[in-house]
Amino acid sequence: MKHRAMRGPRPRGRIRGKPANAGGINMAKEIRTIEDLPGIGPQAAEKLISAGYKTLENIATASAAELQEAAGLGEGTAEKAVKAARDALEIGYETAAVLAEKRKLVGRLTTGSKAVDELLNGGIETQSITEIYGKYASGKTQWCFQTAVMVQLPKEKGGLEGNCLYIDSENSFRPERVAAIAEAQGLNTEEVMKNIHVARAYNSEHQILLAEKAADMIKEKNIKLLIVDSLTSQFRAEFIGRGTLADRQQKLNVHMRTLMKLAEANNIAVLVTNQVMERPDILFGDPTAPIGGNIVAHNSKTRLYLRKSKEDKRVAKLVDSPSLPDGEAIYRVTETGIVDVEE
Ligand SMILES: Nc1ncnc2c1ncn2[C@@H]1O[C@H](COP(=O)(O)OP(=O)(O)O)[C@@H](O)[C@H]1O
Ligand SMILES: [Mg+2]
Repeated sequence: MKHRAMRGPRPRGRIRGKPANAGGINMAKEIRTIEDLPGIGPQAAEKLISAGYKTLENIATASAAELQEAAGLGEGTAEKAVKAARDALEIGYETAAVLAEKRKLVGRLTTGSKAVDELLNGGIETQSITEIYGKYASGKTQWCFQTAVMVQLPKEKGGLEGNCLYIDSENSFRPERVAAIAEAQGLNTEEVMKNIHVARAYNSEHQILLAEKAADMIKEKNIKLLIVDSLTSQFRAEFIGRGTLADRQQKLNVHMRTLMKLAEANNIAVLVTNQVMERPDILFGDPTAPIGGNIVAHNSKTRLYLRKSKEDKRVAKLVDSPSLPDGEAIYRVTETGIVDVEE
């Protein structure tokens, strides 16, 4: 990653073209690694690293409270560390005007169903994370196959004219399903397969690493969709019985922030799947809730709850979106993928 931190912090009080302290002594310590942050000694650095905060970026995008918990830092120290990391990376505020310009570039990827696309105001957005959650066999992985194909379509057909990076943590990728969907779209199945880059994630650490290493691949291979199927299963499996829930949440948070940054920096769509758990405390209504609590909820900009209906019908419920009303869409999962009920 080429950010300014490699060359040290921006000199204060800079005169046009000439650093204020040019030729003089370098007053501020250059911040290149997390150990260079004020108040972070080797011990604290070690704790931060083992909690998943490995880079200045990880620190810069964390909250002070998170760091306090992860590394036992005092409140003041944590705040200073976050601020110093942000300064070093020049992460600051953006004006609404700049954000509006960025929003204009948001692309939308068709799901294969007009009803679902409408629910999503045109499809799965780029620049943020979309989460689909639901029970076993609710069709989450079918969505992944479908979108891995659709992303390759031209824009006028609802695609993003790009390729797919597919992180498979449950060993559920099935090329023959992708081929069937591609064929139904009238695409050359061999070409479509070549444009889907699949990586198996063997454990949560590996999954985190795959996401961290994705940036180069995204540019080289014209990736427009990053899929993580499933986001949570490795984390869930590993942190049952060992480690604490807080540990798991920290790691999930770091992982999701990596994904979010990939989405924003590269204007790509990120689709993640998530499982549900039974909630014994809910007496009325649906007793299932997505895994990952607030961490996953906050990092997923758009959340859809998938459930089975009669025959091959499925219901997608928009649960949480910053700009769209809640609602439901009915579609079908068939041999040829996701289609509308009325074709
Ligand atoms: N070839 C196919 N033809 C029709 N439906 C299929 C086919 N393959 C899978 N499905 C449907 O998808 C379901 C499995 O969905 P999946 O995406 O694997 O669920 P999840 O990932 O949510 O556990 C099956 O139960 C079936 O209804
Ligand atoms: Mg699945």
